[in-house]
Amino acid sequence: MSVSMTAPLALITGASRGLGLETARQLGARGYRLAIAARDEVRLAAAHKELASLGHDVRAQTVDMAYPPSVSALGHWAVGLGPLACLVNAAGILPGQGHNESVLAAREDDVSAAIAVNALGPWRLVRAVAAGLADNATIVNVSSGLGALTDMGGGYFAYRASKTMLNVLTRTLAAELAPRGIMVNSVCPGWVKTDMGGPNATRTIAEGASGIVWAATLKPGGPSGGFFRDGKTIDW
Ligand SMILES: NC(=O)c1ccc[n+]([C@@H]2O[C@H](COP(=O)([O-])OP(=O)(O)OC[C@H]3O[C@@H](n4cnc5c(N)ncnc54)[C@H](OP(=O)(O)O)[C@@H]3O)[C@@H](O)[C@H]2O)c1
Repeated sequence: MSVSMTAPLALITGASRGLGLETARQLGARGYRLAIAARDEVRLAAAHKELASLGHDVRAQTVDMAYPPSVSALGHWAVGLGPLACLVNAAGILPGQGHNESVLAAREDDVSAAIAVNALGPWRLVRAVAAGLADNATIVNVSSGLGALTDMGGGYFAYRASKTMLNVLTRTLAAELAPRGIMVNSVCPGWVKTDMGGPNATRTIAEGASGIVWAATLKPGGPSGGFFRDGKTIDW
């Protein structure tokens, strides 16, 4: 699909693979210009090539979401491409993968890394792009049911803590950006067959991404400050 320079611009982190890449595919198919970011240069270049081969207007920039100057540089780059209609914070890590780490066994560096990448990175990126967000823009924080306090159990301490903090960003930012009509929501994609979710996950990547795309493409006046799965509210 060829799109004009006036097409809405979406910035998507974690777009080298998994849910971020599929979100880019789906937004591209809806006519968005795509600004994609991830850490690994080779995987990001492959994603860029694939999206361009589908006919999408796509640019790519590497970023380490754990490193503040890199996040600032990403924001500066994206704002330079035009007003942002949409920001999808999909980059994320599940530290100690497969270990279901308990509070007592969690490693200091895993807890710090999860909070840095999954929560502080999105906070820093929002600050870096805030002035370049269009009125009625959408911000989607890709969160997780593992960050929901209501039915929180043991294990996954670092990841849970980071996603609960990401949900704090959603709530506070939604209130603060409401005067500009900007809609900020957390989305849980469910348990998805990605590198992170693993082969036993219950949902396809396309199924998981559809709820992210739903929140990214909300019309002006749509919900803000919510926690959703498949477009339906879930408990915090
Ligand atoms: N899969 C699930 O079941 C599930 C469930 C609930 C929530 N989620 C959330 O959904 C989001 C996407 O997950 P996924 O399953 O698609 O994971 P994934 O396949 O492991 O992909 C993770 C993405 O995040 C990027 N990333 C990781 N660390 C980064 C860093 N420091 N700086 C920049 N980019 C970084 C990766 O880039 P590189 O390729 O460069 O490493 C990759 O693009 C995450 O926030 C995750 O927590 C997933």
